[in-house]
Amino acid sequence: MRVLVVDADPQASALAWSNAREAAPLFPVIGMATPLLHRKLPDITADYDITLIDGAPRASVLGRAAILASDLVLIPVQPSPFDVWATDKTEELVREARQFKESLHAVFAVNRKIVNTAIGRDIASALADSPFPLLPTALCQRVIYAESAAKGLSVIEADEHSEAAREIALLGSAVLADTERLAA
Ligand SMILES: Nc1ncnc2c1ncn2[C@@H]1O[C@H](COP(=O)(O)OP(=O)(O)OP(=O)(O)O)[C@@H](O)[C@H]1O
Ligand SMILES: [Mg+2]
Repeated sequence: MRVLVVDADPQASALAWSNAREAAPLFPVIGMATPLLHRKLPDITADYDITLIDGAPRASVLGRAAILASDLVLIPVQPSPFDVWATDKTEELVREARQFKESLHAVFAVNRKIVNTAIGRDIASALADSPFPLLPTALCQRVIYAESAAKGLSVIEADEHSEAAREIALLGSAVLADTERLAA
């Protein structure tokens, strides 16, 4: 697939990741931390199958623009009640954006789950009240994410047989399946 990554967060972590990379790029990464992202992006994305936007945190104008520019919003949530409470604002933004774009969809994905623990019952039940589903795959807390990022690598490149590579592939499949379902 032709993939584009758009860094829409002024913190520019995705850009820093791609700048740290010595190997040939896997896909282009461009910086576009602008509140007009949703207006500018359609001209740029026409040549790509998938555009991944790394959004700005919380309910900022930048976060709003990233949501408006999207078909599917992936909301990462850590398995802690504080994170679940903080999703209210994002949910609200998605609901607002839906007034302009009815087809907009959102899903939650757990990140930083501790290996060999269940996703807390509190998290699952707190998210059960949300209009958006929780993806059946979770990413665990693993040093390989930080180690590979420091070299501008994906975890699959860093160690294709790692648990991280396996869970990232599962997450990718789950997101693609949702994207295809939405496009159908
Ligand atoms: N699953 C994980 N395992 C280990 N470390 C992780 C994991 N996920 C994120 N981190 C680390 O946590 C820090 C913050 O991660 P990241 O930048 O992805 O968070 P973020 O939600 O995008 O933050 P922000 O909201 O500020 O953009 C980084 O140092 C990253 O390496
Ligand atoms: Mg970020």
